[in-house]
Amino acid sequence: MPSAVTVVARSYPDRIIGIENQLPWHLGTDLKNFKALTQDHAIIMGRKTFESIGKPLPRRVNIVLSREELEDTENLKWARNPETALLLADYYSICMAKNQFFVIGGENIYGIFSKYINGIFLTDVFTGPINGDAKFDYEFPPNEWSFRYEREFRKSDVDDFDFRISYLVRRKREHRQRFISEFKASNPIFEKRWDEMVNGVSPGKESEIEQQQLNFIQSL
Ligand SMILES: NC(=O)c1ccc[n+]([C@@H]2O[C@H](COP(=O)([O-])OP(=O)(O)OC[C@H]3O[C@@H](n4cnc5c(N)ncnc54)[C@H](OP(=O)(O)O)[C@@H]3O)[C@@H](O)[C@H]2O)c1
Repeated sequence: MPSAVTVVARSYPDRIIGIENQLPWHLGTDLKNFKALTQDHAIIMGRKTFESIGKPLPRRVNIVLSREELEDTENLKWARNPETALLLADYYSICMAKNQFFVIGGENIYGIFSKYINGIFLTDVFTGPINGDAKFDYEFPPNEWSFRYEREFRKSDVDDFDFRISYLVRRKREHRQRFISEFKASNPIFEKRWDEMVNGVSPGKESEIEQQQLNFIQSL
């Protein structure tokens, strides 16, 4: 099953990630890294983060969580709840032969998915104390998380502050299979209807079935 990985940039020392639905800094190099990391993958974000970005990010399947329906386009997929977002992320990751997808914020969405996360690309931005209204207030205790690498970057023409990117992985990976029973319990018709659709496939009808599966995921 694809792994859920978080990407976040937060201020040091206050752990601020946003103010008035914007990033509190411009870090061109960090954005370039973000693009390289996430391109050709599925990304999950909250509606407010989506609005602050202003458009679906190209060459990515943008899965946006909102309680209000959003119109799907080729690379924008609406998820009405976290389970749907995970199913869509798994589905598209498998279709794109990727073993991970990214949870890209904001505060609310990081909170919802934190229990599923196996890796995190954490950018510490050395701003000193700043104002903000969104935080990423998590610790990564060394007995639970191991550092895979750290890289320091200096303030430059394209980066407002010095910053450091760390990659951490959970020592004991979360296997989301454990959560499927929770999912089925909240959606008892899931297994039956999915099996009916998959078992009903006849040659030449695969794309029809794929569309039915997607419609079904989105109707949950
Ligand atoms: N520094 C960084 O790395 C970084 C990254 C991303 C974002 N940010 C910042 O974070 C801030 C935004 O964070 P935020 O917490 O305010 O908003 P958010 O997490 O981006 O989006 C919250 C929205 O997600 C939807 N949602 C949440 N839980 C849901 C659920 N269970 N089911 C369905 N939909 C659900 C709701 O949309 P509806 O109201 O439409 O129902 C909710 O209003 C901004 O300042 C942004 O710039 C920073």
